[in-house]
Amino acid sequence: MYNEPMLKENSLQGKTIIVTGGGTGLGKSMSKYFLQLGAKVAITSRKEEVLKKTAEELAKETGGEILPVKCDVRSYEEVEAMMKTVIEKFGSFNVLLNNAAGNFISPTERLSHRAFDTVVDIVLKGSYNCTLAAGKYWIKEKIKGNILSTIAAYAFTGSGYVVPSACGKAGVLALTQSLAVEWGKYGIRLNAITPGPFPSEGAWSRLLPGEYVKKFDPAKTTATNRLGEHQELANLAAYLVSDFSSYMTGENLVIDGGQWLKGAGQFNMLDMVPKEMWDTIEQLTRKGKSS
Ligand code: HXC
Ligand code: NAP
Repeated sequence: MYNEPMLKENSLQGKTIIVTGGGTGLGKSMSKYFLQLGAKVAITSRKEEVLKKTAEELAKETGGEILPVKCDVRSYEEVEAMMKTVIEKFGSFNVLLNNAAGNFISPTERLSHRAFDTVVDIVLKGSYNCTLAAGKYWIKEKIKGNILSTIAAYAFTGSGYVVPSACGKAGVLALTQSLAVEWGKYGIRLNAITPGPFPSEGAWSRLLPGEYVKKFDPAKTTATNRLGEHQELANLAAYLVSDFSSYMTGENLVIDGGQWLKGAGQFNMLDMVPKEMWDTIEQLTRKGKSS
């Protein structure tokens, strides 16, 4: 049930959506669902071959209109050129999904300053480059645009070992909340989505490499003891880029099976206590009452 398409047919008719990092992983899955719901979609990233292959595959599967455009989001000039290509092909665009990211685990002191720059530049600079270029265009053309950005829970909790990504995603959340208010007067909305563990080759190879996926099973870090299904993320993303969410802006919606809360609750580790031990523990805690 939760992995079935949720919105009614043609819910995204009239939407033209740019998805950064749309050739792979979660960006590809969201793009597929947007196409199924009647949107036109432009997917963009650095690897042209990957984009072309995905575009062919999704066009075949959905019958929708999809345009692959090569663009490194770290370059403002490339972002402007990419948007120009999209406008030439589709006439206009009214939704941006900031989904491109770079990430890998590392003790921070092992990182070169270039490694730190690389991740922050893709995540934060890439998102503000696309946001700024889209916003300028929409304000000039009086288009009521909509921006959704994919972030991560450590944007608001922080996390060791992924510090450049945490800094970048925290910046994207601040960008979302700030511009939701500043650009509200133009009818432009901005929201964020925080996925928990949703398997993708890109994320798994960099965050749970090799045998580590067995040692640190991400399903067990959630309250629901399972990984996310791409369709359930796509359902929420489609709602957020649709007009059904028109009264929602500056929000961050978390879809993580309770992962970050499980990590935050100081006593949640008591899950590990075997049931039969609770009688003994209860006796001890009742004794505590009389001391
Ligand atoms: C330490 C590393 C490194 C590593 C690269 N570097 N990988 N340092 N550990 N594993 C260093 C390099 O040595 C270099 O510094 C600098 O970083 C730039 O590396 P390049 O390989 O030249 O960069 P580039 O080709 O631009 O590739 C960017 C990348 C790569 C981020 C390193 O992994 C990539 O293209 N990623 C895109 C996809 C991705 O990361 N997807 C995962 C998203 S998952 P020096 O000093 O040597 O020059 C995600 C999940 C979030 O975000 C939430 C989960 C809960
Ligand atoms: P992914 O497949 O590796 O997606 C990252 C995409 O970003 C790739 O398509 C990559 O394509 C593109 N990209 C990287 N650098 C770029 C650049 N400079 N310019 C343009 N595009 C660039 O990983 P994913 O798991 O689907 O991640 C998608 C989003 O979800 C990311 O924002 C990630 O932080 C977020 N997220 C994922 C999870 C998860 O569990 N998977 C959890 C929380 C958040 P190229 O290499 O072709 O450029």
